[in-house]
Amino acid sequence: MAGRIPDQFIDELLARTDITDVVASRISLRKTGQNYSALCPFHNEKSPSFSLNPNKQFYYCFGCGAGGNAISFVMEHDHLDFVEAIETLAKDAGMEVPREQGAPDRYEQNAELLKRLTESATHFQEQLVSHASKEKARHYLAKDRGLTGQIAKVYGLGYAPPGWDNLLKTVGKHRAEHEQQLLQGGMLIEKKDQPGQYYDRFRDRIMFPIRDNRGRVIAFGGRAFGDEKPKYLNSPETPVFHKNQELYGLYEAKQNTQNLDHIIVVEGYMDVIVLAQYGITNAVATLGTSVNSQHFKKLFKLVDKVTLCFDGDKAGQAAAIRGLEATLPVLQDGKQVRFLFLPDGEDPDSLVRKQGAEGFNKRLEDSSSLAHVLFEHARSLVTLGDEEGEAQFARNAMGLIRSIPQDVTLRSLLINQLAEQSGLSVDTLNASTPATRYAAPSASDASYDTAPEAPLPDDGYIPYDLPDHEDYGHYSDAPYTPHESSAKPRFDGYKKGKGKKGQWDNQETYAPLSRHASLSRVSQATLCLLMHPSIAKEVDVPDPLLSGDDPERQMFSRVWRYFEKYPQHNTGHFLYQEKNQDLLALVYALLNHPDATTKQKIGNAQQEVADMVDQLSNSLGLNSSIQRLKSRGNDAINNPETQQELRALMDQIRKKKS
Ligand code: UTP
Ligand code: MN
Repeated sequence: MAGRIPDQFIDELLARTDITDVVASRISLRKTGQNYSALCPFHNEKSPSFSLNPNKQFYYCFGCGAGGNAISFVMEHDHLDFVEAIETLAKDAGMEVPREQGAPDRYEQNAELLKRLTESATHFQEQLVSHASKEKARHYLAKDRGLTGQIAKVYGLGYAPPGWDNLLKTVGKHRAEHEQQLLQGGMLIEKKDQPGQYYDRFRDRIMFPIRDNRGRVIAFGGRAFGDEKPKYLNSPETPVFHKNQELYGLYEAKQNTQNLDHIIVVEGYMDVIVLAQYGITNAVATLGTSVNSQHFKKLFKLVDKVTLCFDGDKAGQAAAIRGLEATLPVLQDGKQVRFLFLPDGEDPDSLVRKQGAEGFNKRLEDSSSLAHVLFEHARSLVTLGDEEGEAQFARNAMGLIRSIPQDVTLRSLLINQLAEQSGLSVDTLNASTPATRYAAPSASDASYDTAPEAPLPDDGYIPYDLPDHEDYGHYSDAPYTPHESSAKPRFDGYKKGKGKKGQWDNQETYAPLSRHASLSRVSQATLCLLMHPSIAKEVDVPDPLLSGDDPERQMFSRVWRYFEKYPQHNTGHFLYQEKNQDLLALVYALLNHPDATTKQKIGNAQQEVADMVDQLSNSLGLNSSIQRLKSRGNDAINNPETQQELRALMDQIRKKKS
């Protein structure tokens, strides 16, 4: 059997996976404010109660209570088990699932595939030198596109001559596996009428090898010489190429730029290469897609400054807005994003030829700030004049600003600026509801009322012997004041039977637990459990820790007991079955805490819970009594009475739950 999948890998996989892509590729999503809504795929409904929060990388159905992260979505939707879901997501992310032991063969498979792609790149380069019709290609590169031999070499440009089997006969000829690997790498196409027979995908084109971070060739773009369609033919998705994640020219930019501290994102292969020829070596291009949050994450790991470069036309403006929306949720302090709009009809390639590096750099200096683009965009959406128009503007702007993480300084700066521009106070802005375009789904909730019962255990859920509602009365004296406040939780509206659909969204402040307050160990552990329910059956919690009347500990206890009993359930299930409104309010507050995202992504969540348990055990003197017993030595331990005491204590602390 294959070995265990390391936690770090799952962590990394979740970091590289955007739940929005995962869900959007399976069901149809509608953007509602910063969230998406949809008809829930897990129960029958006529109007959408399924909500996906891209910031939190979490989904939740207000109808049936299903909820969780990308992994649980794939599990539930594709009817896969945990490992299969991981494998599915890893495939999409272009990652190999490592095992703690065994199963190295997949690594080797990809390594072989990568070798074939490198050989293909070499083959295409050789054709520029040796093929009978090489002059056509050389002429195109040098004369039509004005490239020097040197820059062609830096970017590894090549030539796929006309013909159906040039590559097949060279790179694919040695062994049968090689042919299969070329096929897997997207270089061959199977003949429709002759299964098992293949032909070259790229024919009569200039070839642009696409390299990964480490310089390995993972795919190709091939440009036609004339007006043939498509102008650029690209490799399909393969085990080693995922075009949404790659940036053309990133490896070359790293190689050839001294002090790479700024990256310019342009649209085309040629733009990258021509800019580099003019000494602007820090440009990269998306691969025929708009720039997404994953791209930004990748770029922010490398540099502090990113400039997005767009044509001045309508399409460029629209692409800029997509870029803006993609960057907001992943902004960090110290990172700067600017926007460069080129004159209509120009691309970086044409512009740098006309105006040189100096002209292009001058434009870079005059590029627009993120704030400028954000406010301009918010303004452009306004349809009314006068005060109502101003209010609309403010709501639009807040709709965008809210997707910036809470702890990013720019967020407060923008809110302050907006306050100045709109004459509204910061508090008013924070409390405002987004305008229609960025609004959450409407609260029409017929579907909610008719939603089927949550998928609760067949054995009928029997509430644990926890204090019932009255016993939670002291919550109101606690630092949290759940129900006194008029402010509603963001992750709210889960009021069973009241037919009120939640708006899981950043639009409201929440009183019970300040979102900026740092969390206690117990709350952190609870959050870990909510984000990784499977921990409950892995960590042993001594009974004394599960009793007591501290509200946070009661919350922990309730959550832990639930997931220990129902290891297959997720947070959605928990929320659905939980009847105690005060406890729910606390849980919602936790889920909306900025730490939630982090907790969801950390790989050592289990350790964190175990540590908290240890720490609390220590403070309750549970561990020390064990120490005491142990230190009495073997003699004492052989004493049946002591033995019993020890066993009971060990039981409490180390009891195996699984
Ligand atoms: P452009 O058509 O703007 O490319 O498409 P370009 O780089 O300016 O091309 P030249 O100057 O005419 O050679 C921008 C990018 O969109 C993708 C490619 O990644 C291209 O670089 N694209 C475009 C395709 O994938 N297929 C196409 O047919 C066209
Ligand atoms: Mn161009």
